[in-house]
Amino acid sequence: MPAASPRPEQPIQYDAGTQTFRLDGAGVSYVFGVNEKGELQSLYWGQALGPSDNFPQAHSRPQWASFDLPVNTTPQEFVGWGGGLYAEPDLKITFPDGNRDLVLHYVSHAIHDRTLTVVMKDISRDVYVSLEYRIDEATGILRRSATIENRTNQPFTIEEAYSATWNLPSADDYELRTLTGRWAGEFDLHEVPMQPGKTILESRRGSTGQQNNPWFAIERGNSGDEDQGDVWFGALGWSGSWQIVVEQNQAKQVRVTGGFQPFDFAYVLHPGESLQMPYFYAGFSHQGIGGASRLFHRFQLSTIVPEAPPPRVRPVLYNSWEATEFAVDEAGQEALAERAASIGVERFVMDDGWFGERNSDHAGLGDWWPNPQKFPHGLKPLIDKVHSLGMDFGLWVEPEMVNPDSQLYREHPDWVLHFPGRPRTEARNQLVLNLARPDVKAYVLTSLDKLLTDNDIAFLKWDYNRNWSEPGWPSAPIDEEKEVYVKYVQNLYAILQELRTRHPGVEIESCSGGGGRVDLGILRYTDEVWPSDNTDPFDRLSIQSGFTYAYTPSVMMAWVTDSPSWMNHRSSSLTYRFLSAMQGSLGIGANLNQWTPEDFAAAKKLVEQYKEIRETVQHGSLYRLISPLHGSEFSSTETVSTSENQAAVFAFLHSSQMGYPFPRLRMRGLDPKANYRMRMLDGKAAEDTPASASGAYWMNAGIQIDLRGDFQAALFTLERTSAGTEVGSE
Ligand code: GLA
Repeated sequence: MPAASPRPEQPIQYDAGTQTFRLDGAGVSYVFGVNEKGELQSLYWGQALGPSDNFPQAHSRPQWASFDLPVNTTPQEFVGWGGGLYAEPDLKITFPDGNRDLVLHYVSHAIHDRTLTVVMKDISRDVYVSLEYRIDEATGILRRSATIENRTNQPFTIEEAYSATWNLPSADDYELRTLTGRWAGEFDLHEVPMQPGKTILESRRGSTGQQNNPWFAIERGNSGDEDQGDVWFGALGWSGSWQIVVEQNQAKQVRVTGGFQPFDFAYVLHPGESLQMPYFYAGFSHQGIGGASRLFHRFQLSTIVPEAPPPRVRPVLYNSWEATEFAVDEAGQEALAERAASIGVERFVMDDGWFGERNSDHAGLGDWWPNPQKFPHGLKPLIDKVHSLGMDFGLWVEPEMVNPDSQLYREHPDWVLHFPGRPRTEARNQLVLNLARPDVKAYVLTSLDKLLTDNDIAFLKWDYNRNWSEPGWPSAPIDEEKEVYVKYVQNLYAILQELRTRHPGVEIESCSGGGGRVDLGILRYTDEVWPSDNTDPFDRLSIQSGFTYAYTPSVMMAWVTDSPSWMNHRSSSLTYRFLSAMQGSLGIGANLNQWTPEDFAAAKKLVEQYKEIRETVQHGSLYRLISPLHGSEFSSTETVSTSENQAAVFAFLHSSQMGYPFPRLRMRGLDPKANYRMRMLDGKAAEDTPASASGAYWMNAGIQIDLRGDFQAALFTLERTSAGTEVGSE
């Protein structure tokens, strides 16, 4: 790599002599250039290069015999389907004259407001694509998107459209991590060696889905250590049907392409119209998968979540669902609110059952006004009561759905997704409103706006309890019906944004029967997500661990519910349940009407403990010390506060086997020279554990905790007592 003139300290640079673009941030460099044909060729992505390193002009790679033309051997940033391409194209178009060949070449670029825009155009037709690049200087995480523009004088049909392609350096020892799952079993982490061929991660469900999460991480080699190794990772910010294609081609090149799901997709772009693709975020870490997730957490907190930066700590929440299900009323909720307040809860949330004729899941969805029998004076008396107890008030809604047994459906049976004359398949006795329709969008916005205007509501739990079937939109022009996959989600985002603008204090949780709509698209409009309806504290250890590979624990709601678990009938202690939930944003969903005075006393103490560590847990740097995955009998996490003054450490024992002790826990991320005092909040440490020692001691000699039996848990903190230079001089 020849040296060129030193580069100014700019995150985005363009070298006109070589036609190369370079983005730099937080120890990461990303380089691509215009090659001799005008294609945008990927050149480098990884650890930061020297400030004056430069690349020569990009040159397309030679073909491989007559079978793989250079278009297949040259890694490109964004490539149309044309000219003999066999990889997943970023864009495929059918033109009205039958032409389907699309070859995009560089036209121009601009750097404005820390954003690089590179414009490409088809070699003969006025199809323009503007690629947008941004790099976050604190984390080196890139954000890419593409906007397709029709400047021809006829409409054309987009059949495949992706946001971006990420090309990795050539290597043949990559390992791919993905997150898959199903209802009550979300965020299941998989690690597989990459092989030639494609891995398709996708949802065809109309929303993000539990089956695959739109996240990937690829490690070069397998360091076997969470905090070592080179990892490339990314996530798509889209809450509709999506696809990410991870492909290792015949030359062992790895590329990752993500955007709209092409199955059952078509989008007609009329002259003068444009279509922007969702953001696809990606980063690089030299500190292994642990470093990758810490970077991503930091990025999400500083850049994605709505109130960023800096996000507020999440309040301790109580939710009435598992206590009452649909049997809610004013007196019952007030009694629960009093009990919740007594243990230090800060937000009281009334779940399903409060509106319309909602006495079971058979009726009421769509009718967003308080049920007059259950709340004869509206919600105000309950909300006032909750406020008088020092808590704010939250409410459950499921605005995108309708029960056929509802006033809304009786008035507007045509408002749901359906194909005329075909069955309307119900799930949980409900149908999906077609949010792509302007009148449906207006109804949802107006009814929620009224609810928030009439009532002092601080929080909405926004649920979405089924996926699509029969995704027809009969009132749309026939060739535009399939745009429902895009327009639905655009309108959903617009409603969320408008509600936030009109009611700036309101926070929102994205829930979809658990973690069915968790992605970086919805997280731009919602403050937290519900990872799973499965609240069994042991199952949650794996679900939550998987979650943290992709998303920050700050947005991860975790509830303490009753034992035995409704889900699997497993019994566990209140402390175990609390400690499992305290690794995220703490909620309590138990039936407080059945708690004993001892339960209340224990819960009060645990909520106090949580408040001492929550800022660390929610905003700090997470180290997964021992993974609960792969059937491990132990697990442990450590989170170090951003100030490095506190570490909070959780340890869980599933079931003692053969009397082996809990593995010695060696801390990470402390200041080796500072002193830290150890404070055991729950559980026991070995007798010879020092009360105070240096970060170097805790990180190298470590801590032996004493856990025995089944479903046991411990929580301790390390609190800095001296500055880094004053070792041993507390
Ligand atoms: C979904 C949610 C639950 C609860 C119910 C209410 O299942 O995940 O937490 O809100 O809906 O019907």
